[in-house]
Amino acid sequence: MAEVYVSIILAIVLLSGLSVLSTRTQFRSPSISENAIAALAPPTVEGICSSMVEKQGYACEEHSVTTLDGYILSLQRIPVGQSRGPTGNRPPVLLQHGLFMDGITWLLLPPNKSLAFLLADSGFDVWIANSRGTEYSRLHISLSSNDSSYWNWSWDELVAYDLPATFNYVHDKTKQKLHYIGHSQGTLIALAAFSKDQLLNMLRSAVLLSPIAYVGQMTSPLARNAAYNFIAETLYFNWGIFEFNLRGDAFVDFLKKMCERPGIDCTNLLTSFTGQNCCLSPSIISTFLNHEPQSTATKNMIHLSQMIRNGTLAMYDYGNKEENTRHYGQETPPIYDVTRIPDDLPLFFGYGGADALSDVKDVQLLLQGLKGHDADKLVVQYRDDYAHADYVMGEKAKIDVYDSLIAFLKLQ
Ligand SMILES: *[C@@H]1O[C@H](CO)[C@@H](O)[C@H](O)[C@H]1NC(C)=O
Ligand SMILES: *[C@@H]1O[C@H](CO)[C@@H](O)[C@H](O)[C@H]1NC(C)=O
Ligand SMILES: *[C@@H]1O[C@H](CO)[C@@H](O)[C@H](O)[C@H]1NC(C)=O
Ligand SMILES: *[C@@H]1O[C@H](CO)[C@@H](O)[C@H](O)[C@H]1NC(C)=O
Repeated sequence: MAEVYVSIILAIVLLSGLSVLSTRTQFRSPSISENAIAALAPPTVEGICSSMVEKQGYACEEHSVTTLDGYILSLQRIPVGQSRGPTGNRPPVLLQHGLFMDGITWLLLPPNKSLAFLLADSGFDVWIANSRGTEYSRLHISLSSNDSSYWNWSWDELVAYDLPATFNYVHDKTKQKLHYIGHSQGTLIALAAFSKDQLLNMLRSAVLLSPIAYVGQMTSPLARNAAYNFIAETLYFNWGIFEFNLRGDAFVDFLKKMCERPGIDCTNLLTSFTGQNCCLSPSIISTFLNHEPQSTATKNMIHLSQMIRNGTLAMYDYGNKEENTRHYGQETPPIYDVTRIPDDLPLFFGYGGADALSDVKDVQLLLQGLKGHDADKLVVQYRDDYAHADYVMGEKAKIDVYDSLIAFLKLQ
């Protein structure tokens, strides 16, 4: 029953975005949306190595690491490139996906276009993280993903538990400091950790694609709509829905029906969330929907909604002084102060002018916080035409972004 309610709520939110879009987009290819919807079937259970990496002719290892709060996370390692080449001294790179995504984010395009494969072929030892609650990281030492307490977390816990566990594991295995590459929420949790002086002893440099820290000026109609209508709060507190799952059966059925309606272009569902991506090939949409979107905790959505409404970069707000004091020893949630990120940490930022989630004004606010950063340790690459998904799925991202990103890593 719960899922039906989620569908109704999401339907309202989605339709308010879509009705705007459908008046704008007159032309569409029916075959694309049909493929996309056919691809929404539940994902298979085989591991990421066998489904996405080995098929492309790359070696791949499945690893797992348990966080201090008991979540069992999967990690995939691509230890060498396709040419196999020398195995010695390959610097480790950890890839951290964003919200509603998982490690497959980095493997959606063919090997000569996907960042994970390009890094392996450029001499790096590639490690792919999967956050708690996603398809391949749903196990816990004592909880089931059906338990409400399994979903009792927001991105604060990704900062406090997932990232340290993953960093420690890769650092231990490789005995080297890591390069870190995050997309979207993967940048948020890293910036938050660095601001608290965490992970820095294991870190060589960090690349932040579609950076998220402040979201008060986010333009995404779907995200703003959901935040200002307290959708996540309603699901959590009124309806007791703790897993935020866009793949729920009821939601998928609803989508299928909606996408059959004339004048609705389902390839633009993504657009109303991410902004107008410049460079996605139509076929990537169905590949994407084969694997994504992934679940997150409804509590995480509440936390992100608080940030959209408040414009601050702070920990989860329990909503009253007593609860905040109980958790934090102070009446308001502590802030993550990005000005505390060390000035000599090598950072590469890639952000786009068409990104509706990492809005340009919000990114500039973040960069303002880093204005004391050593000039020779900070690379900022702005692309006018790029939106959120272009940074991981864009046809031309290799040329536009990854080539300079890899050159940056090689200098560190
Ligand atoms: C990737 O490989 C395909 C097929 O071999 C080729 O057509 C395409 O131009 C390549 N793309 C890049 C960015 O190198
Ligand atoms: C969760 O509950 C469903 C339905 O009761 C069941 O089919 C599934 O196996 C459970 N999953 C886990 C991880 O316990
Ligand atoms: C969620 O975790 C917090 C500690 O972070 C705990 O105080 C609270 O009781 C937990 N709630 C549920 C429903 O498990
Ligand atoms: C918004 O920020 C104010 C302080 O500026 C704080 O008191 C309040 O708790 C915050 N609310 C949320 C929802 O984050």
